[in-house]
Amino acid sequence: MGKIIAIANQKGGVGKTTTAINLGAALANENKTVLLIDLDEQANATIGLGLSRELVEATSYELLATEIDIRETIYETIDRNFHIIPASIHLSRMEGSLANETNKSLILARKLTQVEDDYDYILLDCPPSLGVIVDNALFASDSVIIPVECDFFAYDALTQMVQKINQIQSEKKKIKGTLTVEGILLTKLDNRNVFGYKIADKVHELFPEKTFKTIINRSSHLQEAPMYGKSVLKFAYNSRGSKEYRELALEIIANHRA
Ligand SMILES: Nc1ncnc2c1ncn2[C@@H]1O[C@H](COP(=O)(O)OP(=O)(O)OP(=O)(O)O)[C@@H](O)[C@H]1O
Ligand SMILES: [Mg+2]
Repeated sequence: MGKIIAIANQKGGVGKTTTAINLGAALANENKTVLLIDLDEQANATIGLGLSRELVEATSYELLATEIDIRETIYETIDRNFHIIPASIHLSRMEGSLANETNKSLILARKLTQVEDDYDYILLDCPPSLGVIVDNALFASDSVIIPVECDFFAYDALTQMVQKINQIQSEKKKIKGTLTVEGILLTKLDNRNVFGYKIADKVHELFPEKTFKTIINRSSHLQEAPMYGKSVLKFAYNSRGSKEYRELALEIIANHRA
């Protein structure tokens, strides 16, 4: 059975989508089958992987809000073994349209049971919030990757995210589910800035067992690749960013085996 991993942090711009795209491509590069679900109305993962907002008909919105067959929402990307369920702007309506639903946090979990066995990894790119969509992602997931940008405000956000995970963990226990922290991923480290290293050290100190060994440095290749609708592996295979996401994929595969 595959592993479902949410990539979440309510703080914006910390590298969730960059991680979803490039970790997905790096896992596929290791011959794993991967499905990425874009759950953010900004549709950055969708566009970053070369799909056009106008051309996709069925998206994660239809998946959550209608009875559509999940297989109709799955699209191929240019990376072999790497599929995506795109996002649409309509996701912004989810909060309101689900207000009176019972079990509104369990919709995605229920739908994913139909394709769980088709993939080694299902990655969920979450929006920068802690609303009903992120609840759906966390209920559906086995674990969470929390990308943390190496800057000061990252800290405060990390504490809130950990609280949210604890809350969902205890709710999931009641329905015999589990949710673990796959790892905290330090991102956008600027090697010319000593302060970034201080934040990295502090996060390692606070979560020694839970911080990935791989750190993602700031890199222009990672910024540029989505403009071409490509993962960094396809855009610049030998770049530092590509190497770091390939290392992260190996860490995650090793975690999965352990
Ligand atoms: N390692 C990196 N080096 C350089 N730029 C990066 C890196 N990681 C992410 N970025 C850039 O930072 C910006 C935010 O990254 P990204 O979209 O991945 O974050 P996010 O957490 O998904 O944001 P949001 O919360 O808005 O969904 C983007 O412009 C992206 O290209
Ligand atoms: Mg994003």
